[in-house]
Amino acid sequence: MPAFILATILGLLIPNALAVPVATSVLTPGGYRPNNTIHEVPVGGRIAHIGSDIHVLDASGVIIHVASPTSGEPAAAVVPRQEETGWVAYAFWLQSDSSDPIASLSTSWTVPPVPTTEHGQTIFLFNSLEPSGGVSAILQPVLQYGPSGAGGGDFWAVASWYVVDGQTFFTSLVPVEVGQPLDGLVSLLGQNGSTYEYSSQFTNIAGTNLAINTTQQFTFATETLEVYAVTESSDFPAGSTVLSGINLVLESGVVPDVVWDTSSSVEDGVSATVNVDGATNAEITIAY
Ligand SMILES: *[C@@H]1O[C@H](CO)[C@@H](O)[C@H](O)[C@H]1NC(C)=O
Ligand SMILES: *[C@@H]1O[C@H](CO)[C@@H](O)[C@H](O)[C@H]1NC(C)=O
Ligand SMILES: *[C@@H]1O[C@H](CO)[C@@H](O)[C@H](O)[C@H]1NC(C)=O
Repeated sequence: MPAFILATILGLLIPNALAVPVATSVLTPGGYRPNNTIHEVPVGGRIAHIGSDIHVLDASGVIIHVASPTSGEPAAAVVPRQEETGWVAYAFWLQSDSSDPIASLSTSWTVPPVPTTEHGQTIFLFNSLEPSGGVSAILQPVLQYGPSGAGGGDFWAVASWYVVDGQTFFTSLVPVEVGQPLDGLVSLLGQNGSTYEYSSQFTNIAGTNLAINTTQQFTFATETLEVYAVTESSDFPAGSTVLSGINLVLESGVVPDVVWDTSSSVEDGVSATVNVDGATNAEITIAY
């Protein structure tokens, strides 16, 4: 058989023979991701960066999963998406002098009414800390409506998420009620040389704590509304959500000179407005 015919036959056969299972795409606060790159962290578990690998440990410190960085879509890091999906309304502050690390960022809000229409939309609302300088990572206590890779549906629920190096880690979703108060907190638990230990949690909701350690210092703070598959304004909750008690504390106790910048999405009819600026008891309204 002439070689070119053999090559043609092999060319027709091999793609099927070597076909790898197609990963399903699932939604995370870092955008749509292959389902094999998202990992639930058990209650009391933690994340540790060991060399270039990312270990998931259970509450007793046993390594239950090792994830390697992937070259997948970058996390929603320092330059957030500005399309109609993704980060549609947010406030942010970048710490220019990182010699005094951010010790914590707290934010309080209440769970909004459920949207009056249902188009499979997903709404994420969170405060977050991230590294800056081109490293893609984000640690965030997230209120979610609609489906994501963590679960969810036509109800509100909360979880902590850590998106890094093309991998996504989350705590089990905890359903919450309309009107329930939420206290989101990202904090620096400790530092040992170049290792920083951070946690994300809703301090008033059990089972939402996610502790990580990383060599990245988190210097970028955000208050964010992120949405997917919204098709009309009634897919959002009615009215607005006031993010209050926004306290950004430095390790030294010095009160930093924080000025919140905002970005709004006129075409989506959503906006972020600073009512009270600064590092202490700041207040930002997300209007839908
Ligand atoms: C990802 O999705 C594929 C296709 O649906 C499925 O075969 C596979 O088991 C899933 N993998 C994980 C880790 O959930
Ligand atoms: C990082 O995490 C590991 C595993 O949990 C722990 O043994 C270590 O003490 C942590 N390091 C720091 C600096 O927190
Ligand atoms: C800090 O790091 C050093 C060197 O890696 C290690 O020997 C020590 O046990 C760590 N201390 C803590 C409190 O984790």
